[in-house]
Amino acid sequence: MRIGILGGGQLARMLALAGYPLGLEFTILEPAADACAGPLATHLQSAYDDPEALEWLTRHTGCITYEFENVPAEALARLQQDVPVHPSPAALATARDRLLEKRLFQDLGIETAVFAPVSSKRELLDAVERIGLPAVLKSRTLGYDGKGQVVLQPGDDPLEAWVAIGRVPAILEGLVAFEREVSVIGVRGRGGELRFYPLVENHHQQGILRLSLNLHEDPLQSLAEGYCRRLLNHFGYVGVLAVEFFQVEDRLLANEMAPRVHNSGHWTIEGAVVSQFENHLRAVAGMPLGDTSALGHAAMLNLIGELPDLDTLLAVPGLHLHLYGKSSRPGRKLGHITLLERDENALREKLAQVNSLLSNSL
Ligand SMILES: Nc1ncnc2c1ncn2[C@@H]1O[C@H](COP(=O)(O)OP(=O)(O)O)[C@@H](O)[C@H]1O
Ligand SMILES: [Mg+2]
Repeated sequence: MRIGILGGGQLARMLALAGYPLGLEFTILEPAADACAGPLATHLQSAYDDPEALEWLTRHTGCITYEFENVPAEALARLQQDVPVHPSPAALATARDRLLEKRLFQDLGIETAVFAPVSSKRELLDAVERIGLPAVLKSRTLGYDGKGQVVLQPGDDPLEAWVAIGRVPAILEGLVAFEREVSVIGVRGRGGELRFYPLVENHHQQGILRLSLNLHEDPLQSLAEGYCRRLLNHFGYVGVLAVEFFQVEDRLLANEMAPRVHNSGHWTIEGAVVSQFENHLRAVAGMPLGDTSALGHAAMLNLIGELPDLDTLLAVPGLHLHLYGKSSRPGRKLGHITLLERDENALREKLAQVNSLLSNSL
């Protein structure tokens, strides 16, 4: 079966890498000429709403998925007339709008930070009054890697913050004094079969994911899975869904969801029996799902902005290197490293060693 992927970045690249052993083939629809999935797929280099490209996909693919959240809704609607699109465009429409997303969490009984919509100066001032400061003002759409958001401290001018994010429709959220950030990845098959990966702990730098850790069995696993299950079943979802949470004591406040394979699941390539990429493809292509169990404790480190000396890294026993074929640019994800150990202390030691190599060479 040929799978069409909307978007041709590193997520599409890793989907293709996982799909070839299953006999799948890939076409990406991606406007950029230097798409990093380009070497692994046929490449339709067109706009996401190009009628000819969409027509081609409906005629030559068995199903469509996406790795990018800002595909125009009309393009998905066009594709859906003739070919299955997974995950459902309804899940995408909710996930790309922080207000719809938070309201859905609330409707499904999933805890969140306090929030209020901001679409006018009046609403902004009301929201600040109700939520209080500190708080975070985020654009409803198009934000990623910490972009499109500003933290408002007591005494800051809310209007200035709103202007800083372009005076676009936004959401104000209470700033959560969390103990940890964690995420769960779930997958639902076409027949409703469900699987979940172990909860991972995430560490960000300047709003960008830097490190994900799969440690001991987490006491919050079943709470996170329950929340993820409600979302998967609500949409009759097919594919991988990631949900990010803030941990406050023994509660989980849902921050956002991603209707696609997720950076906090890259460790599953070597660290789980079947990776998030393979399971996403199995789900969308209508195959049985694979085992999501971890093979040990894993750490995934993103390589951001500039690559370190690769020979030094590759000399570390057991280190797995993934490069995305991208050129250096500040804040850009160029690749990642995975470390896998049976013993948690051994993992922490190896992580410290790799971190020191990274800070010496960057
Ligand atoms: N309400 C909040 N309280 C505390 N920290 C937050 C809040 N919202 C976002 N952050 C911090 O900013 C990071 C990025 O925000 P997020 O909403 O996940 O947007 P993005 O789409 O950029 O990942 C989060 O991982 C977290 O570290
Ligand atoms: Mg996030």
